[in-house]
Amino acid sequence: MITDYDKGVKYPVFGYEITPDIAIIDPELTYSMPADIVAYTGMDALTHGIEAYVSTMHSSFTDPLAMQSIKQVVNNIEKSISGDKEARAEMHYAQAIAGMAFGNGFLGIVHSLSHKSGAIFKIPHGVANALYLPYVIDYNKKADSSRYADIARMLGLNGSTDNELIDSLTDLIRRLNKSLNLPLTLKEFGVEEGEFEKLLDKMAAGAIEDACTPSNPREVSVEDMKKIYVAAFKGEKIEF
Ligand SMILES: [Fe+2]
Repeated sequence: MITDYDKGVKYPVFGYEITPDIAIIDPELTYSMPADIVAYTGMDALTHGIEAYVSTMHSSFTDPLAMQSIKQVVNNIEKSISGDKEARAEMHYAQAIAGMAFGNGFLGIVHSLSHKSGAIFKIPHGVANALYLPYVIDYNKKADSSRYADIARMLGLNGSTDNELIDSLTDLIRRLNKSLNLPLTLKEFGVEEGEFEKLLDKMAAGAIEDACTPSNPREVSVEDMKKIYVAAFKGEKIEF
């Protein structure tokens, strides 16, 4: 379905009928990618792994794939940006592995927030995911902190409580974003405040309806969706 929003924005057509049957996973195809696309797609892969691991649809079949993809991205994304071919190949495989995890385990509201704001403010998909990911982790941890803590532990991050481990995980994501020259807030990306305020209700309503929202580990209201957008616009830590 194609939906018209203000400013003539159109959403892409999506459906399992047009999902490819076969993927050619050949790292050589990625060697000529520009650095910004390497950063965007890499952080998208990290988001796929993390969202699939904490999704309400996760299972014993998707968990190992999600964890493997997260580890592989964290260990290789910066080397891949600097042109290391082995790291680039590992990133290419990590995105495919994360795809296998979320193809069955589904995603969460990082993607819901990204889909709606990305279409309106022309934010590349991976940039939007990288930006929202730490905010959504702080929001979702109230519903289920143990699975985010699992991820932090698997990565060898510091912390003796779930909260400390999760803070280490969000710090790591923000550190990666900074090192890849990705914005930490919508304001930093260049979203204009007046436009943001004008479109906030519409984005939040759209994000609630997104296909990724039902599998988010915390049930989310339109009001909360708006508050997450505002926190990500201003760069405020989520405490609600
Ligand atoms: Fe994605």
